[in-house]
Amino acid sequence: MFANVKVNITLQLFVNKYQFELFLNNQLGNYIDILHNISYTLNINSVSKERILMNLPHLKIGHLIAKVPIMQGGMGIGISLSKLASAVANEGGIGIISGVQIGFREKDFKTNNDAANIRGLIKEIRKARSLRPKGILGVNMLSAVNNYKEMVKEAVKEKIDIIISGAGLPKNLPELVMGSDTKIAPIVSSGKAASIITKMWDRKYKYIPDAVIVEGPYAGGHLGFSLEQLTSIKLPSLSELVNEVIEALRPFEEKYKKKIPVIAAGGIYTGKDIADFLKIGAAGVQMSTRFVATEECDAHINFKKAYIAAGKEDIQLVKSPVGMPGRAIRNAFVKSLEVQNQKVKRCYNCLKPCDPVTTPYCISDALIASAQGNVEDGLVFVGSNAFKMKEIVTVKELIKELVNEAAQFLNK
Ligand SMILES: Cc1cc2nc3c(=O)[nH]c(=O)nc-3n(C[C@H](O)[C@H](O)[C@H](O)COP(=O)(O)O)c2cc1C
Repeated sequence: MFANVKVNITLQLFVNKYQFELFLNNQLGNYIDILHNISYTLNINSVSKERILMNLPHLKIGHLIAKVPIMQGGMGIGISLSKLASAVANEGGIGIISGVQIGFREKDFKTNNDAANIRGLIKEIRKARSLRPKGILGVNMLSAVNNYKEMVKEAVKEKIDIIISGAGLPKNLPELVMGSDTKIAPIVSSGKAASIITKMWDRKYKYIPDAVIVEGPYAGGHLGFSLEQLTSIKLPSLSELVNEVIEALRPFEEKYKKKIPVIAAGGIYTGKDIADFLKIGAAGVQMSTRFVATEECDAHINFKKAYIAAGKEDIQLVKSPVGMPGRAIRNAFVKSLEVQNQKVKRCYNCLKPCDPVTTPYCISDALIASAQGNVEDGLVFVGSNAFKMKEIVTVKELIKELVNEAAQFLNK
């Protein structure tokens, strides 16, 4: 009997142990499943977060590699200087300092303009470098300015990563950077212009652009289109222009066995916009207007607030001493030009195409006034989409928003 009880108890224990093990296994299995799920979710989250950053293709310009394919456009006078450019570079994009009349804070700016600009340029490049030693930094120089050669050479001496040049075709730019690591990118507004400048550089310097920026009609600042083109019904879209430029550059890419990254600019506002241009073959985008309403933008707070306050009807085309029209906020200054020109009191001799006797106004004075906060009596350049802006954010927040949204749409 005892033996029976013992066997029974042992059997019972065995069964219980078996059941207990089964129970334990099940429970453990559940726990393991739960742990798996947690780690899977964590993994998925980190993978997708990484993907969101990683899925945007890097922007490669020769040896320069930007993790984020966003170049912040140069904004003169005094809107994109070291603070904004270094903040953008810090987030993995390309930060561009505007070199136009960059010495406007120097004491001798009015009396010794060229020297003040050289000094201002060196200061801003060094400041940006100290804030972002490893980021990609560039300088935007209008090829229409009189001290163009000297300014570009100085930027090269300072080992700037890239020079961006618009407002006319920068015909001699390659010879100014020869023997340096500085990359060069012209701004064009058509396939024809892309072809002309590339052919010119190829023939004269056996060099092709390291990148090309295509600026469409919805950009801010000076535009590469005549007033007739801008007011015509059939305005080319930026995507048409990007396709045109990609096609125009193809023969040169084949000849040199080298990719020329095409960067789309003008009216790009959201991450979806960025994704749309990457999908059609742009290597990156250049954006300016959105970077104005950032804490780091170098402009006076009034300038940023003017963007946020602007409605669609407040943004219009204006004539400019540069030749081609620009886009700006309709303020007292712009209204006054409809009545009469503003006499030039003192000429800086800054622009090749400007005649101080016939010019409608002094563009240097008008732009400096607004950058320093006088947004009613100065010229406030702006992109066509500025009316959508609601608040001032940090560059970090803006780039994060743009990258996350772009990645989402790129995967669709
Ligand atoms: C305030 C302001 C100033 C600008 N100044 C310059 C300039 O000095 N040189 C230049 O090449 N482009 C200039 N631009 C054009 C931008 O760099 C950029 O290509 C264009 O505005 C892109 O369009 P988005 O503003 O809609 O992003 C300026 C634009 C703005 C809004």
